[in-house]
Amino acid sequence: MPERTISTMFDEDHERLDALFKSFQTLKRTDFPKAKSAFLEFKAGLQRHVVWEEDVLFPLWERKSGMTGGGPTIVMRNEHREIGDWLEAIYRKIQAQNPETEREEQTLLDLLDRHNMSEEEVLYPEMDRMISAEERETAFRAMEQIA
Ligand SMILES: [Fe+2]
Ligand SMILES: [Fe+2]
Repeated sequence: MPERTISTMFDEDHERLDALFKSFQTLKRTDFPKAKSAFLEFKAGLQRHVVWEEDVLFPLWERKSGMTGGGPTIVMRNEHREIGDWLEAIYRKIQAQNPETEREEQTLLDLLDRHNMSEEEVLYPEMDRMISAEERETAFRAMEQIA
């Protein structure tokens, strides 16, 4: 089995979440209950992903890089808040059985695409270079506590 890294672990989670959101979009006009359950799984998964990053990954990155007062993690945290707002906007419509969420979906997807790409291309590979195997395992254990 190939070694588990920050990149492989988080890239895979992005992909899994993308697929859930896709099934919500594909199903919402034909099978609303199924679409709703895909969305709820997406929402819970994305919220957990954000907590993994903000409570485990970013603090580790800040500690290792010495950038605590500014830098990319501040930007990432702000983007998480914005992503969270659009997630809630879609959630409210779904709770009201309203499938007219195209505008919100597009905005959320644009934000997520950009955000995930900068994590996948910069932050995660940087972390894999910066931390030891032991620090990585400690981070995974901390994430399991959150899951
Ligand atoms: Fe993120
Ligand atoms: Fe992420």
